[in-house]
This record gives sequence, structure tokens and C-alpha cells, in this order.
Amino acid sequence: MNKELNNVAQMMVKPGKGILAADESNATITKRFNQINLECSKESRRNYREMLFRSSEAMENYISGVILYDETIRQKSETGEYLTDIIQKSNSLVGIKVDTGAKPLALDNSQTITEGLDGLRERLNEYYNLGARFAKWRGVIEISKDNPTSYAIKANAQALARYAALCQEANIVPIIEPEVLMDSQNSNHNIKECERITTWVLNTVFEELFNAKIELEGIVLKPNMIIPGKFCKERSSPNEIAERTLSCLKETVPHGVPGIAFLSGGQNDIEATEHLSIINTSSNNPWNITFSFGRALQHESIMTWGGKVEKITDAQKAFTHRAKMNSFASLGKWNVDLENND
Ligand code: G3H
Repeated sequence: MNKELNNVAQMMVKPGKGILAADESNATITKRFNQINLECSKESRRNYREMLFRSSEAMENYISGVILYDETIRQKSETGEYLTDIIQKSNSLVGIKVDTGAKPLALDNSQTITEGLDGLRERLNEYYNLGARFAKWRGVIEISKDNPTSYAIKANAQALARYAALCQEANIVPIIEPEVLMDSQNSNHNIKECERITTWVLNTVFEELFNAKIELEGIVLKPNMIIPGKFCKERSSPNEIAERTLSCLKETVPHGVPGIAFLSGGQNDIEATEHLSIINTSSNNPWNITFSFGRALQHESIMTWGGKVEKITDAQKAFTHRAKMNSFASLGKWNVDLENND
């Protein structure tokens, strides 16, 4: 076992801590800034992210690592400090999104394949020198009447495995993120369908990781929770979501994997926290289970900030509160009263 990779993976999922996904592409962060009527520029993206990374209470106590976008890993603060240095000073790890996005699968425009393998070996070596100790690659699977097909699942799983092998070769821990979407236009599937497809996807991913000789002790899995699609009328209780999520993971994820860090996927802040907490009330989980949220960690903060300098402190408080609530959830100790009494 590669001890260095295992140590980093263990740090990423350390009990009480989780990962901040701040790796939105420029197109995605533009959508977030549109909600607050803020022009998306290199500078506004830098100001926003710097505000998050300088939230020292959150960063030091609740955030184990931050996933960055290529622009951010090279960016300096207004005062000339690398943003990566700010992150590292709070004892948090630097991570980097290395895929170049989900593109239409050739001859099948209804599904996607995630790209970014060309030149990845060289890019990973450069990212390591820039401070990255873990990376992220997101495969996207959408459920609809005829999809996903086994071909699309396998193609995405193979891409994840090839990416993971290149990461481990470069001494970088790969976050393996095969996301079964809950919030696309077609997401009217029920919870059982999400469970069936996610089980299929995870089984395929671990088969491909095995074929690629990946050391499971040196990865972190970032899956979706088992949840009904956004437009499904049959809603499920938080307990059912937690039970089905755990049962799917126990069926598919080998115990050698050090940790699981969920994406939030379109759940609102409180839902994501509540589900994570219930999942962690089960005492015999074989892995550390935590968060690697984007929207569910940042939403309140971005809305509070609104692009205004005078709102930075309030926005940092909002981010710290959410990070703290998710820290409780990663220990199975969150309850709704904590939301108001923090
Ligand atoms: O790839 C997706 C992000 O890393 C997680 O974002 O929590 O908003 O789904 P999300």
C-alpha cells in the first residue's frame, strides 16, 4: 500500500471534517453569480473564493480539503498571496478538478462521457508542484426512459479508472465521482430506480478500478445519495434515503476504501446535512463518511455576500455555520435545533 496516498485520503475524510467543492467551471460559477446579479470575472471569482478560504474558523476546524479549478490553483489574492497558501495555512489540503467536462457521447447525444485524459499525466505533475495532493473527476449518469446504457456506464467507469491510475502514479489521491443525477430535466425517477442504477454504476466503477490496478486505500469515493429525482412525485423520508444509501454502499464499496464524501447534487442545505447525519448514526459503517459539497455548503454564503465588500463577514459566518453543521453530520450528531442555536 502507498502510505503517502493513504495518509492523504485519511486526512480528507477525517471524522468531523469534510471537503469544500469550490471547483465550479467558469460557466457554472457564472450561473451562481447571476443569482446575485454579479458580473463573473477573474477578479470577482477570486474575491468570492478568497472570502471562503479566509473563513479561518471554518477552514481550520471543519474543512479537510478544497477542490479548486485550474484558474484558482494559479491565482493570487489582492495582496499577492497564492490562494493555495491561504488554504494550506489553515491546515487544509489543496485539491484540483482535472476533468474537462461531460461531453455528448459520440453517436448518442442523450448521454455524456467525461473528457480530460489527453495530457493528464503532465498536468498532474504540474498540479502536484502547485500543491495539489488530491484530484477530482466527475462522471455523469442521467436516468431517463432509455438511459443509462451499459455502454455509457462502462465508458465513464473506464475513464474514471484511467484517471485514477494516472493520479496514483503522480502521488495524488483521486476522488472518484460517478454522479447519478437527481436534478436534470428528466429526473422523475423514484428512489428505487436511483438505487438500482447507482448500484449498477458503482459495481462497474469498482470493477474498472480493479482492472486498472488502483490501490483502493488511496482513493476517496464521491457518490450521490440514493434519492428520488427532483420531479418525482413520490417523495421519500430522510430515514429511507439514509437506509437505502447505506445499503447500496455496503453492497458495492469495498472496505479497503478509506472514505466516502458525498456530493450534494441539488439537495437543499438542510436536506443534505440531515441525510448525512442519519447515515452516520449507524454505528458499524466500514468507512468514514463525510461531505464534499458544492452548492449545499456555499449557497447561503454566496447569497449573503451578494458581491459586496461590506457583507464579507456575514457571508463568512454563513459559510462557517454550514461547515459546522456538516461537521456535526459527519459525526452523526446534527439535529435541527443546532441550526438556530449556533
Ligand atoms: O462535482 C460536483 C461538485 O464537486 C459537488 O457539487 O455538491 O453542488 O453537487 P454539489
